[in-house]
Amino acid sequence: MKKNALIIFGSPNQHGFTAKLTRQFTSAAASFCVFTYLDAYKEKIKPCSACGICDDEITCKYKDFKKIKGPIENSDLIILASPIYNMSLPSPLKAIIDRMQPYFAAKFRREKFLLEPKKVVLILTCGSSDERAPLMIRAQVNAAFNSLSGKIIGQITWTNTDTVKKMTESTKRNLADVVALIGDI
Ligand SMILES: Cc1cc2nc3c(=O)[nH]c(=O)nc-3n(C[C@H](O)[C@H](O)[C@H](O)COP(=O)(O)O)c2cc1C
Repeated sequence: MKKNALIIFGSPNQHGFTAKLTRQFTSAAASFCVFTYLDAYKEKIKPCSACGICDDEITCKYKDFKKIKGPIENSDLIILASPIYNMSLPSPLKAIIDRMQPYFAAKFRREKFLLEPKKVVLILTCGSSDERAPLMIRAQVNAAFNSLSGKIIGQITWTNTDTVKKMTESTKRNLADVVALIGDI
């Protein structure tokens, strides 16, 4: 059976580096994944206001939570595809990550967690070769996806996009390795 893979897309550019890498990933994994998309810049999800309403149940005061809840709960695999902005995630994508707070409350405040653990793949692009940037994203994503018992199982990275405009052989191999890994689970 094919895996339900949710792509949370964080680039404002539909034809940029992140989009290109994500397209190559989805075409390579199409035989064993069905993809659903949550595009952070298109959906404009509101930031968490820390109102505390989700302390008691998996809900949110903002109606747009339904755009996150269904896709997340129905996914086997979550692919977070994003450029790196100032050692972090672009703010529309960060807003989606922060809106996972209802799952944090369920797991850690009420100790009630009903979802299957999620497998997470990162697709990251960045202008520089600063190795700290992807590590910082991993730390953020690990913290946020801990609420979903998520585990990062693979990472595809295209660094140096300011100067390296064509995908390198090492990024292509990295992509093929992660696709093979997903095919095996
Ligand atoms: C606001 C902004 C902040 C950025 N910050 C970083 C950064 O901290 N480190 C880095 O290596 N690249 C940084 N970049 C470069 C992008 O990560 C890079 O150009 C990326 O590949 C763009 O992806 P896209 O084509 O999908 O938009 C930044 C770009 C922008 C627009």
